[in-house]
Amino acid sequence: MTNSMNGKQVLLIIGGGIAAYKSLELIRLLRKAGAGVKAILTRAGTEFVTPLSVSALTGEKVYSDLFDLTDEAEMGHIQLSRSADLIVVAPATADLMAKMANGLANDLASTCLLATDTPVLLSPTMNVRMWQHAATRRNVETLRGDGIHFVGPNEGDMACGEFGPGRMAEPAEIMQAITTHLGNGPLTGKKVLVTAGPTCEPIDPVRYLANRSSGKQGFAIAGALAELGADVTLIAGPVHLDTPPGVARVSVETARDMMAATEQALPVDVAIFVAAVADWRVADATNQKIKKQKGAPPPTLTFCENPDILATISQLPKKARPSLVIGFAAETENLIEHATAKLQRKKCDWIVANDVSGDVMGGEDNQVILIRQQGPESWPQMSKQQTARRLAQTIADALQENQK
Ligand code: C5P
Repeated sequence: MTNSMNGKQVLLIIGGGIAAYKSLELIRLLRKAGAGVKAILTRAGTEFVTPLSVSALTGEKVYSDLFDLTDEAEMGHIQLSRSADLIVVAPATADLMAKMANGLANDLASTCLLATDTPVLLSPTMNVRMWQHAATRRNVETLRGDGIHFVGPNEGDMACGEFGPGRMAEPAEIMQAITTHLGNGPLTGKKVLVTAGPTCEPIDPVRYLANRSSGKQGFAIAGALAELGADVTLIAGPVHLDTPPGVARVSVETARDMMAATEQALPVDVAIFVAAVADWRVADATNQKIKKQKGAPPPTLTFCENPDILATISQLPKKARPSLVIGFAAETENLIEHATAKLQRKKCDWIVANDVSGDVMGGEDNQVILIRQQGPESWPQMSKQQTARRLAQTIADALQENQK
């Protein structure tokens, strides 16, 4: 991380929340990485950290009042907001986010945020109920739609004694997000495609066949790759999950849609097929609802095979094939043996094998074995987020190794 941000300028807006103390550590990390930091301390922010400690750490004057005429003469709020490569708001309080979502500009922080054309990264923190309140949900959606980026909040014990989402992301996580947004991630410039979720195969206009895939692992992988700077296209079957920040999502229903969207997303450097694609579809799906008729026997479904997306992409001619193709293998027995056979049969480069005999499908945790040329590597049981981050880092390391 040292010096990875040399020459970059960050404008840090510190809002009024107990987590403001973490922003001091964030300044330290930014400076250590070589970034220049200017800070705006909101009036509420000064209740939690002092201008003196902020300026001691940034090595700069701290900006705090819109109507400070000296500052206006030295550096107006427009210039302050535009001289940075990235604006980071940490802590981003419910109040600051509400102001941003509605275009209010009644202090220096909100005025800079309205006046800027620089990318903005928010690290929200607030009480769980405030985070879950319909007004905050609306504001978050609006801000995402406006192209504002988010890191966190995390789930955990809160200073107010409650538990849930609302804790500010840790300084190291914020640093990782900043690295991505400053274009300095290890996967910056790499195009990656991820498939995720189930596919949904129609029987008739109202009935379909699907499977228990929740999409959580694939979405987490897409998010983790974006955190490392990759340009990620996520081709997702029907799931109710938020698109991870910075990821371009293409929503599909059937295996054939997913195949077409995958081909459309090419060329990419890396393709990761996490989706639980239906092996078969109903051959004679009807356009009219199948009617239940008294005395008539139940209908018989005839199946035909779906395209195998992973095998197709793995076997593309070298020029069109992603340089790294990764498949997933959900198995209930003889994990390594079956997954290794799949790797050879489909001709992908790596297989991530997981035992789905427990509650992996839909659950929060995963325990996987990564199978590569050099053999299997068992990873400990961890959250799907952690599995995703480790896989993203392993991919970044492998690409870097290849470039040597
Ligand atoms: O053949 P099987 O479904 O066990 O292989 C699993 C792997 O193949 C996963 O990576 C899955 O995303 C991919 N797959 C695919 N298209 C299919 C079936 C599986 O891409 N039709």
